[in-house]
Amino acid sequence: MFYETPHRDKTRLPHDPFKAIVAPRPIGWISTRALDGRINLAPYSFFNGFCSAPPIVGFSSEGWKDSATFARESGEFVANLATRDLRDPMNATSAPLPRGANEFDHAGLTMAECRLVAAPRVAESPASLECKVVEIVEIRTRSGSWSGSVLTIGEVVAFHIDEAYVREGRFDTAGAHPLARCGYQDYAAVESLFALARPKGGGDI
Ligand SMILES: Cc1cc2nc3c(=O)[nH]c(=O)nc-3n(C[C@H](O)[C@H](O)[C@H](O)COP(=O)(O)O)c2cc1C
Repeated sequence: MFYETPHRDKTRLPHDPFKAIVAPRPIGWISTRALDGRINLAPYSFFNGFCSAPPIVGFSSEGWKDSATFARESGEFVANLATRDLRDPMNATSAPLPRGANEFDHAGLTMAECRLVAAPRVAESPASLECKVVEIVEIRTRSGSWSGSVLTIGEVVAFHIDEAYVREGRFDTAGAHPLARCGYQDYAAVESLFALARPKGGGDI
């Protein structure tokens, strides 16, 4: 099968496969605090890390949703790790609540204080990254017009890691069962890992 993007045969592929192909995507569970104190929490699967020294992550909002709006005005956000055991509260925080309604309360989650940013983190999450916004990109299409999406990029200035997930000096990813978004309504959770050494001289990345 081949098609140019605007010409998908909707009789054969009624559902856009894009998000099922760019998958699995890690979920940035983004908490923010507006300057007036309103708290927000929502999942973003257009999320990833983009470099490691310094560590930098970003999430893309399809439109100026609250997370991007609050991150822009405060210059801060927190990326919490969404896990298999937290899938229901994670999903609950994606509900379209009125602006400023606290998704922590809505989903039965606990706010824990951060140290370097004013936004709270998700106490139940095994890991949270405190981030300071370094760049906001209004993503353009090839014609130069705004796509409607906003990529908020932040430098990770502090880490919170639940000690229960530190094993032999490493973060226990398989034990935390991070959740990832696939296409449609599908998710994946990390259940096991395998190691593969880089070719000689290839470095760490
Ligand atoms: C697993 C998951 C991943 C999501 N990823 C995105 C995303 O990458 N970009 C986006 O704009 N919305 C995404 N959404 C939808 C937002 O979470 C939803 O619109 C939410 O209400 C936005 O909240 P906010 O306005 O409080 O930021 C996702 C929802 C779920 C359940």
